[in-house]
Amino acid sequence: MKDIQNIVILTGAGVSAESGVATFRGPDGLWEGHRVEDVATPEAFARDPALVQNFYDERRAKLKTVEPNAAHQALARLDEQWPGDLLLVTQNVDDLHDRAGSERLLHMHGELNSAWCRLCDGRSPFDGRMAADPACPRCDHHGYLRPDIVWFGEMPYQMERIERALAQCDLFVSIGTSGAVYPAAGFVQTARYRGARTLEMNLDPSEGSFHFHESRMGRAGGLVPAWVEEVLRDI
Ligand code: OAD
Repeated sequence: MKDIQNIVILTGAGVSAESGVATFRGPDGLWEGHRVEDVATPEAFARDPALVQNFYDERRAKLKTVEPNAAHQALARLDEQWPGDLLLVTQNVDDLHDRAGSERLLHMHGELNSAWCRLCDGRSPFDGRMAADPACPRCDHHGYLRPDIVWFGEMPYQMERIERALAQCDLFVSIGTSGAVYPAAGFVQTARYRGARTLEMNLDPSEGSFHFHESRMGRAGGLVPAWVEEVLRDI
């Protein structure tokens, strides 16, 4: 690790699985019993806002019952102790990286605990029920809040910052993601093209597994703390 200075880490639902948060692509191909296109598209929200609001209200309420696991904690420790640049890009909309203490963190698919007002375009911290139609904390109007979640067909957040970090990193690490959703699934190719070493840690090979220099298969709660130990031992 002596030649590594800048690290970009991408996490997906697998990093939160051991905390009890459901992954998106379960064995039945459903997300908590729903087809993704019924709850995670702007069209679904326009068609049936109550169904979509209730779905995210349940996910948000569930956050209060789960805790960060060993993988989130190890990544927070790495963030605290790594002397070079580091960016943790998560596709997860839960707050487990935040609660574990990661600071150099970016939620590219938005956050359950944030509300986006379609009237004033403001974003506010939110931990209640949107189905109850609360007023926007910024403009005070009812009827315009939606989950601050990037749905299919919408642009992920802070792509310029991510692209810059990928272009400058010497090590790209992907943890607990199936590699099924772009643009995140393409980060490994961008980083590798710019000369970074690439490592994947996942329960099973992701769709883009062959792009990585190294793949470690297993549970994030075991693999990630062991890897962080390795990295910090060598600084
Ligand atoms: P997926 O559900 O597609 O993939 C989760 C991956 O984690 C799978 O490859 C599992 O094998 C792996 N996994 C499960 N348990 C694990 C464990 N304990 N340790 C390590 N790996 C484990 O979730 P994502 O790849 O995050 O987008 O999905 C990407 C995006 O698709 C999500 O951000 C979401 C979704 O639609 C939006 O909402 C825009």
